[in-house]
Amino acid sequence: MDHLVQTTRLLGLSGSLRNGSYSLAVLNALQKRLQTSVSMEICNLNMPLYNEDHDGLAAPEQVTAFRRSIIESDGIVIVMPEYNHGIPGVLKNALDWASRPFGKSSLTGKPVLAISISPAFTGGVRAQAQLNETLLAIQAVPVPAPQVVIGSIASKIEDGLFVDEPSANFALGAIDRLLDRCRVMPTAYV
Ligand SMILES: Cc1cc2nc3c(=O)[nH]c(=O)nc-3n(C[C@H](O)[C@H](O)[C@H](O)COP(=O)(O)O)c2cc1C
Repeated sequence: MDHLVQTTRLLGLSGSLRNGSYSLAVLNALQKRLQTSVSMEICNLNMPLYNEDHDGLAAPEQVTAFRRSIIESDGIVIVMPEYNHGIPGVLKNALDWASRPFGKSSLTGKPVLAISISPAFTGGVRAQAQLNETLLAIQAVPVPAPQVVIGSIASKIEDGLFVDEPSANFALGAIDRLLDRCRVMPTAYV
């Protein structure tokens, strides 16, 4: 009967475009350790700056593809750094695109798990608080606490790979809570 188990589809977003991004390393590590019934596509957030003149049918192709990926997913996993105590512009820009056109946000009702990372021990917790405000504004559904905040990230990366077992297991526990939410309120539209 295994072949009848439906795959839960997650979408992974990295809040950094940097080559060698620690955020992306964390997403890659989590992706490899998901249960076999769960998949996670990782989406590149490199897209034009938000412009309301183009947020309907005339949206840039990267934006249209991004919105489609959100719609087709059951839930979202965001891993992001903190920039100047706030959300990285790349991520905020992508969320602003996804939130429109008004009343037709691809993120409405979508379960979202936020994970922040930082070389500092504070782990990006201030950016995460800001992100939760934004997710509420978009009417996405943030997965509740305990928050996943990964401090001292540089010491947890080896050869570009995220290798810290305790943090990885903690994050996987949060993904389990995200999956519970996805099953209770399925939102993927194929
Ligand atoms: C513009 C800028 C602002 C930053 N501000 C903060 C900050 O407020 N708090 C923090 O913990 N780290 C801050 N950092 C450090 C980032 O957390 C660090 O560079 C992180 O590794 C970036 O994520 P990435 O590895 O995924 O690219 C900042 C980095 C940059 C480039």
